[in-house]
Amino acid sequence: MTTSIQAPNHKITVYVVSCWIFAAFGGLMFGYDIGISGGVSGMDDFLIKFFPNVYKRKLIAKENNYCKYDDQLLQLFTSSLYLSALVASFFASKACSALGRRPTIFMASIFFIAGAILSAASEYRWMLILGRILFGVGVGFGNETVPLFLTEVAPIQLRGAVNIMFQLFVTIGIFIANLVNYGTSTMHPHGWRVSLGLAAVPAVLLLIGCFVITDTPASLIERGKDEQGKAALKKVRGVDDVEAEYKELVAACEQAKEIKHSFRNLMKGASIPPLVIAILIQIFQQFTGINAIMFYAPVLFQTMGFKSDGALLSSVITGLVNVGSTFVSIFAVDKVGRKKLLLQACCQMLISHLAIGIILTTSLRETGSLNKTLATVVVVFVCTFVMAFAWSWGPLGWLIPSETFPMETRTAGFAFAVSTNMLFTSVIAQAFLTMLCHMQAYIFFFFSGWIVLMGVFVIVLLPETKGVPIESMVDTVWKKHPVWKKCFKNE
Ligand code: BGC
Repeated sequence: MTTSIQAPNHKITVYVVSCWIFAAFGGLMFGYDIGISGGVSGMDDFLIKFFPNVYKRKLIAKENNYCKYDDQLLQLFTSSLYLSALVASFFASKACSALGRRPTIFMASIFFIAGAILSAASEYRWMLILGRILFGVGVGFGNETVPLFLTEVAPIQLRGAVNIMFQLFVTIGIFIANLVNYGTSTMHPHGWRVSLGLAAVPAVLLLIGCFVITDTPASLIERGKDEQGKAALKKVRGVDDVEAEYKELVAACEQAKEIKHSFRNLMKGASIPPLVIAILIQIFQQFTGINAIMFYAPVLFQTMGFKSDGALLSSVITGLVNVGSTFVSIFAVDKVGRKKLLLQACCQMLISHLAIGIILTTSLRETGSLNKTLATVVVVFVCTFVMAFAWSWGPLGWLIPSETFPMETRTAGFAFAVSTNMLFTSVIAQAFLTMLCHMQAYIFFFFSGWIVLMGVFVIVLLPETKGVPIESMVDTVWKKHPVWKKCFKNE
């Protein structure tokens, strides 16, 4: 599809690419946190200091394979971050509209650095939890702003690929965190402090990036800074001739300025379809079961009978698969389109979950472990699952909500995507170990059921948005969709 507003005469300059990369460090922050928690909460020194009961239970021989880590407080350690990010994303949405994308990214990095310092220095549980909350605010602010930033500065033909740099950095963050945990697990007794403290590194990089990147043209024009907006547009397009696109942006912003209450307007006409899609896509993303694997990979692999080290190593392997497969998405998303990637992945994830479920339910008893061959087969299916997620529901869960809202409700609508992600991430973080304890390996069949539902969602409700200019989404996509056109009946 071609577009009138973004003629492909732009240049990909060093500056343009620097903006993409620096902003994407926000994804690194988020990913590092996802990857670090599981490993840290499996470290003996950490458990002895903050969760001695869990540690004692872990030591009891012949304990039930599926239940040894089930502890609400330990799960609260992981999930408190997501609850605070959930709340923070709404404040971030306000900041994003009123102050702009760049200052909001700046705030994200500051909160995250504060969280890293407090967590690494923790002596008491309350310090640990407060550190998590600060991390959470950083993630809430970062996740609200970075995907929007990338979508808004991206040239249309590369919009998917540029946005997916956020997810790419998420996966790199998870992978680095797995490596860090692997190294610090033998640093007694303070390895966990190193793991948590190193979270400051991506945040500092993001902070530095704030001095390099420009605010997005859309955000500047929306806040009445038209001249600065035009200058920013020239910078992110790498050319001086941006008049046509500039005029389109001014027109879209004029309309947006008339809307005073963006949250209230979310419940009206053009914003309803993207809102429903944003919320559902994020719920589904979490119910693929990805974070059961990401947070608890070391714990999960130990459950399957790998020793501590082997377990961490296996999660390093899944981390690597996650990064590698995200590249597939970067190259495919603007060519193959969003829907095909999501559907293909549903099939692959379904097969993987079913295979893992069948092997574990038939071969892993409550005590004892899997034999080597079966354990390896399980790791292979975990990898095929992660692979499919990484080129589909992972990146597209962020891309689609960032490109489908009209300007006037974009930040408010995207806040719902972020907060839904956080809510359901924390639900999984909080509930997974308990569910594993009660449902045992049948949990993989539970996730399989969700994946079937997701396939139906893609076929029936999700439109293809590849190549459609953001500002013409309403006319080109929503008003023509067999289900969603009903929202415009009264116009
Ligand atoms: C999800 C995270 C997940 C990560 C895995 C992200 O898109 O939002 O919950 O842990 O992908 O790579």
